[in-house]
Amino acid sequence: MIVSRFFEAVVRWQRQHGRHDLPWQGSTDPYRVWLSEIMLQQTQVSTVLGYYDRFLRRFPDVQALASAPLQDVLALWSGLGYYSRARHLHRCAQTVVQRWGGQFPQCAKDLQSLPGIGSSTAAAIAAFCYGERVSILDGNVQRVLTRLLAFEGDLAQSANAKVLWQQAQALVPADATHLQMRAYTQGLMDLGALVCKRSRPACGRCPAQSSCMAHARQQEGDFPVKTRQ
Ligand code: ADE
Repeated sequence: MIVSRFFEAVVRWQRQHGRHDLPWQGSTDPYRVWLSEIMLQQTQVSTVLGYYDRFLRRFPDVQALASAPLQDVLALWSGLGYYSRARHLHRCAQTVVQRWGGQFPQCAKDLQSLPGIGSSTAAAIAAFCYGERVSILDGNVQRVLTRLLAFEGDLAQSANAKVLWQQAQALVPADATHLQMRAYTQGLMDLGALVCKRSRPACGRCPAQSSCMAHARQQEGDFPVKTRQ
């Protein structure tokens, strides 16, 4: 009951107050969504915007990327940093072409087997492109959910991170539609980036304020618990 209330509140909030004008939104092409998610892993939206368009013009599909020399990929990535992302990106494109017949796999579990795609990125692609009922859980969303649940476990310990993952998954209703999954996934990202910020969260603008356990205790700053990175 509380579960679907949170889900529905985030979906509704995203539709009214979330971001709708990002160039990778509205697309269910896994190539475009994958590229955006990899670029956004360690880089701010404002920086990614220019790179994303340039990259897509030069490499419009996964075949074009897979057959390009690595040096060309690295050259276009220049300035974005974390160059292992670009190497993984290139290897991932080659794997999709060689092992998957040029089609990205259509579930989070298989997506996660590809180079450079971790569990949260796999979930984002699967939810955005295929409506799979899986939850993302990147650093921002860990903050949102540990506050919501006043989750005390130290996320540096993988057993606790796993429990949080299960809790995140339990917040997704079994009958969620593709459109809802898109809004929910984007909504979690937008909440983490715009409202449930690390310092001075804007709780007055949060759709989950009334059910947030950390807020009720005025302990937003205590979550997430993470002893090391
Ligand atoms: N950060 C990671 N993925 C994102 C997305 N799809 N939109 C905005 N910020 C993000």
